Amino acid sequence: MLAAVSPALCGQQESLQQMISRSLAVAERQCIALGRTAEVKDSVLPRTFTGRRVRMAGYKSWICGFYPGTLWLLYGYSGNDTLRALAEKFTARVEPAKRLKNTHDLGFMLYCSFGNGYRLTGNRHYLDVMAEGARNLAGRFNERVGAIQSWGTSRKWQFPVIIDNMMNLEFLEFMAKETGNLRYDTLARRHSNTTMANHFRRDYSSYHVVSYDTLTGKPNAKHTHQGYADESAWARGQAWALYGFTMMYRETGVRAYLNHARRVAAYITGVADMPADKVPYWDFDAPGRPDTYRDASAAAIMASAFIELSTLDKSADSSRWLDYGVAQLRSLSSPRYMAEPGRNGCFVLMHSVGNMNKRSEVDAPLSYADYYFVEALLRLKKVIDGQG
Ligand code: GLY
Repeated sequence: MLAAVSPALCGQQESLQQMISRSLAVAERQCIALGRTAEVKDSVLPRTFTGRRVRMAGYKSWICGFYPGTLWLLYGYSGNDTLRALAEKFTARVEPAKRLKNTHDLGFMLYCSFGNGYRLTGNRHYLDVMAEGARNLAGRFNERVGAIQSWGTSRKWQFPVIIDNMMNLEFLEFMAKETGNLRYDTLARRHSNTTMANHFRRDYSSYHVVSYDTLTGKPNAKHTHQGYADESAWARGQAWALYGFTMMYRETGVRAYLNHARRVAAYITGVADMPADKVPYWDFDAPGRPDTYRDASAAAIMASAFIELSTLDKSADSSRWLDYGVAQLRSLSSPRYMAEPGRNGCFVLMHSVGNMNKRSEVDAPLSYADYYFVEALLRLKKVIDGQG
């Protein structure tokens, strides 16, 4: 059925079903083994593997929800009780994050973990945890700016908003529907509109950080933090943009978000020196290309977003988005990026870049690369099964 939609998908290679089953089997094995390493340590969650050691993070880190979230996604796929037990254990470690007021990352932290857990188990406590977190996230919204503040005020930035922040809106949309508190939906739409107006260049590449003047509500700085330069296209930022506007269209049906996601998708797919395997350099404009690092996490996030966009965009471009996401998944599922079971500190994907400017987590596995890789595989499975 899928082959009829997308001829590029019927080559002589491993079938997509086989690729999905094989990769999810590796992910399941790795995540269970990683859980055995991590469960004996108190209160922490897996983050990366560097210097031959699995590195952990506490509940205050933006990445804390991804490992439990991956366990939940895999549990939803296989029903394996070991995965569920680990998911419950590690989700509980994230709970104190619900009280944080100094970060915008509460969607990443709570929705990936408690959100997936609630979807699969109906556990009401999980909803209570999310309700507290959503109140704190909404508390960071500024009426004059029309956006949620990402990071604290600094000498450099009065009211910084990063493109990543689009990802936290899915949490607000979910809570709006679940609780009937429509303010969450209003804030998510206003944040999206403000971001659409100020975060993008003429070619629809995205700035990383836009800071606003809280007296006028207008942007007064456009910078990077994790990218190569203020005017460059940090790869993961482009992935967050594509995913964020695709998700906002799914949640609201607002046509402007679909149009925006399509423009971002056209920009990404049109990048002239994107590597043939479609796993981007850590920054599209990184110096030293092609001899610089790739970012598998950006490819995984993009793949998940492209597959979703292909299901929402009813235009002739739909198969183009699907083909791109599939190509990225084929690369990520290959030995070049997917680790052999038992290696890579038991993370699934190799070769991501956390923060090049700080020389932190460069060419390393990352818990969020694994989360979006598994999510993308499951989204593709749904498309193939005809439920996409
Ligand atoms: N949200 C932080 C990052 O993408 O690195």
